[in-house]
Amino acid sequence: MSDFLWWRDGVIYQVYPRSFADSNGDGIGDLPGLLAHLDYLNGAPDSLGVDAIWLSPVYPSPMHDFGYDVADYESIDPSFGTLEDFDRLVAEAHRRGIRIVMDLVMNHTSDLHPWFVESRSSRTNPKRDWYLWRDGGRAGHHCRPGRMPNNWQAVFGGKAWEWDPATEQYYYHMFLKQQPDLNWRSPQLRARMFEMMKFWLDRGVDGFRLDVVSGYFKDAAFRDNPPALGLRGFDRQKHIHDSDQPELMGVLDDLRHLLDSYPERMAVGEVGGDAPRLAARYCGNGADLLHLAFNFDFTGQPWLPRRLQESALRWEAALHSNAWPCYTLSNHDLSRHATRFGGGPSSDRRAKAAAALLLTLRGTPFLYYGEELGLGDTPIPRSEIQDPPGLKYWPIYRGRDPERTPMPWNAGPQAGFTTGCPWLRLNRDYARRNVAAQQADPASVFNFYRELLNLRRASPALRRGRYHPLLHQPVTAMAYLRESAEQTMLVAINFFGWPVQVTVDESLLGRRWRLRLTSTPDEGARVQGNSLRLAPFEACVLEAE
Ligand code: GLC
Ligand code: CA
Repeated sequence: MSDFLWWRDGVIYQVYPRSFADSNGDGIGDLPGLLAHLDYLNGAPDSLGVDAIWLSPVYPSPMHDFGYDVADYESIDPSFGTLEDFDRLVAEAHRRGIRIVMDLVMNHTSDLHPWFVESRSSRTNPKRDWYLWRDGGRAGHHCRPGRMPNNWQAVFGGKAWEWDPATEQYYYHMFLKQQPDLNWRSPQLRARMFEMMKFWLDRGVDGFRLDVVSGYFKDAAFRDNPPALGLRGFDRQKHIHDSDQPELMGVLDDLRHLLDSYPERMAVGEVGGDAPRLAARYCGNGADLLHLAFNFDFTGQPWLPRRLQESALRWEAALHSNAWPCYTLSNHDLSRHATRFGGGPSSDRRAKAAAALLLTLRGTPFLYYGEELGLGDTPIPRSEIQDPPGLKYWPIYRGRDPERTPMPWNAGPQAGFTTGCPWLRLNRDYARRNVAAQQADPASVFNFYRELLNLRRASPALRRGRYHPLLHQPVTAMAYLRESAEQTMLVAINFFGWPVQVTVDESLLGRRWRLRLTSTPDEGARVQGNSLRLAPFEACVLEAE
């Protein structure tokens, strides 16, 4: 596999460091904890076998948004460890064939970042224009805020403008008021950000996940957003002026040049909205802009074959023919898919079927820690909620804590996550649903993920082959081919708890198929003529002989 390109052929695993493994008993996951568990991810005989880690932010932070409020871009928060720990992590990960992708939060900083402290110190400070400062509207008066500069809303609730009494101007924050937005039109800020990216690239970091990349630029004239239908204030506007501005493409071009000046570096963007066409724009022609972009149209779909297939087709159609798709089912901002797709007694069988989908579509799969155990959301009582939007919107929205609970390593005290008190409670079923138990059980969700990862790595068709759906508007199952010059794979997934028989088009006729993998015990011949029989919740991969 000499042409193996890690971000294109490999599988990327998101670690939410606070919740992965705690090494010092303070209840908060940290870098030494992650280091101690690298063998779980790759490099040992029973490893999961992933090719890269996307590390959610570990920079110094007051943690209002649990690290997505960065107070220093070039250091490590003491609760996570030190820069030396980080360097060890890069070295130890690389030794195991694991790449490191840093989360870069460049849309905003913490209000405690020294840049913002300077910027807010006076209207004439040289860093004043590193952030977005505006006068109040009419009726302003010294020491009394005037009208907000425009109608923009914050994602986490309320207006996006915060009055600064000392300098008598508003600053803009797309998220919490402790997360002031940066002004990417400042050449100094822009240059400083590129310097910072070099700092990490030179330390051996392999890629960046760009947080809220579509937000870097806002309308230069700060025009009002037009109204839209929605529940929360933020959803009641069309976000045409507070994100996705054309100047962004210039920054992404420069970023691509920087990355291309190092070997095999990658950037994946979190782009706002859920339109695949928008996400595709950021991926350009495969040689410019970003290498990958998350497509939230896919995570928005229910567990229905037609909806997921149509989403995959929209994604395929939107991307330039040389651009590369990626797929994800869960992350630290979304309800975990084991829960989102229905939970209940069938949860593990469905989790395997979902894994088969994620790992056999055409594109780079992103896994979210714990999904390989079939981990679901953990309900958090109101008194234990930590996530700011959860506190604000409870009980309508309970925030993102349920999908951020500690990784269950074993059935021991605190699931082996910590010797202290975990920062968030554990999943209720951790005595059964944990790494040690699932590694020992050949039929576990974990071992099914492992088999899928192995098969994917060894299969040119699954890594790079063409994606060709075999069912039009499917109701019960998905079936598709992945075809490369040297190999044809057939993937079939039954979405429900009863046996199904589906009829596919002629392309299966006259071929012999060998079963490579199935999520249920093998039941013998399943392709007959052009009909395909699947056991309840069965996901299988067959290879043309
Ligand atoms: C991104 C992150 C999210 C964070 C927000 C603000 O959407 O994924 O966790 O709260 O940006 O930085
Ligand atoms: Ca710790």
